[in-house]
Amino acid sequence: MNIQIIGIVGSGAMGAGIGQVAAMAGHSVVLYDNNTASLERAKTSLTATLQKLEEKGKIPSTADVLHRLIFADDIHAFATCGLVIEAIVEKLEAKKAVFTEVEKVVGAHCIIASNTSSLSITSIAAACNIPSRVMGLHFFNPAPLMALVEVVPAIQTDANLVHQAKELMETWGKTAVLAKDTPGFIVNRLARPFYSEAIRIYEEGIASMETIDWAMTNIGGFKMGPFTLMDYIGHDVNYVVTETVFQSFFYDPRYKPSFTQKRLLEAGWLGRKSGRGFYNYAVGTFAAEPVKDEAAGRQIVNRILAMLINEAADALHLNVASANDLEVSMTKGVNYPKGLLTWCDEWGVANCLGLLDGLYNDYHEDRYRASILLRRHAKNNTKFMQ
Ligand SMILES: NC(=O)c1ccc[n+]([C@@H]2O[C@H](COP(=O)([O-])OP(=O)(O)OC[C@H]3O[C@@H](n4cnc5c(N)ncnc54)[C@H](O)[C@@H]3O)[C@@H](O)[C@H]2O)c1
Repeated sequence: MNIQIIGIVGSGAMGAGIGQVAAMAGHSVVLYDNNTASLERAKTSLTATLQKLEEKGKIPSTADVLHRLIFADDIHAFATCGLVIEAIVEKLEAKKAVFTEVEKVVGAHCIIASNTSSLSITSIAAACNIPSRVMGLHFFNPAPLMALVEVVPAIQTDANLVHQAKELMETWGKTAVLAKDTPGFIVNRLARPFYSEAIRIYEEGIASMETIDWAMTNIGGFKMGPFTLMDYIGHDVNYVVTETVFQSFFYDPRYKPSFTQKRLLEAGWLGRKSGRGFYNYAVGTFAAEPVKDEAAGRQIVNRILAMLINEAADALHLNVASANDLEVSMTKGVNYPKGLLTWCDEWGVANCLGLLDGLYNDYHEDRYRASILLRRHAKNNTKFMQ
């Protein structure tokens, strides 16, 4: 893939981050936004970030990298780009419109990718004259620090481009995984129960959010508890991804959003960024103490873990990605302490299935139905990662 000049649409958190990665990898980068204030902010923050990297000796020269970055408020600046990555608002109609505009400006061989978290790449491609050049390149936030990129071909995408895109991402220092164009791709699908089952446990009054967060970090080994993480991501983002995934899965109850989180969004309690979410971040307020009961904490971890493993098993069963890519995605995309299938093998497939079947028998709710692949491995006494 001979791509020297990279175009980025949208200079927000993701666009600026991806631009930094590409420029540091030696590309010329055109960062375009239709909002000049956003472009100015991106320029200021990228300059400050690069200066810090230079001070730490991670890059030889800020000026060198900045020299490769062009901040443009005119889409025609993309004319010579070999790859354009779109990172604008998460709205299908807006993305389709941008892809149409980009296609008018770039050459016939330019690849056009979307950084969407949850929209269908196939429907974005359908808006283009040359849908075979469209794909998903899903980076994680912050793009310069998170190693994972999900490469997502639409059903129309030229298969050769997919391999080339994977190789290109590797030259950017990223770990590229291949994901089917299904809702939430890999990470945003597999991670749903981390949030939804934690909220369910909290809603039922089984444990407080402080206790669930304590159990998931101290016993489960996760870097952040679910409530702390949701507050960090922001409920405007996290809830909307959950709702989109739920709708896109034709309202499969397994992905059902919660009223608890919806109310936070309605109240404008978006999390850290608004000073209040599940937790209150105002100065002088303190979170309640967790109940540090090891046995009860283990039950909480196992319940959430079983739901996460079930999601991974089902994604494997439906060929969303290879077992290896599912594992890498969760360790590199969301820093899980272990891949979920490996975790299941270590825990015992029968133990995981037993817990899920117990929940299903108790609740009679479809959200607890076990994947057929989990059931087969338990029946045959086999493991996921042989
Ligand atoms: N923030 C995350 O954690 C994250 C992670 C992975 C993927 N994503 C996805 O990346 C995309 C961007 O997210 P973000 O958090 O960077 O958003 P953001 O709101 O920080 O930035 C979006 C930028 O796009 C610009 N923009 C909007 N419409 C435009 C148009 N028509 N033409 C040109 N510029 C336009 C806006 O001015 C803004 O600067 C979304 O699709 C999101 O789902 C976000």
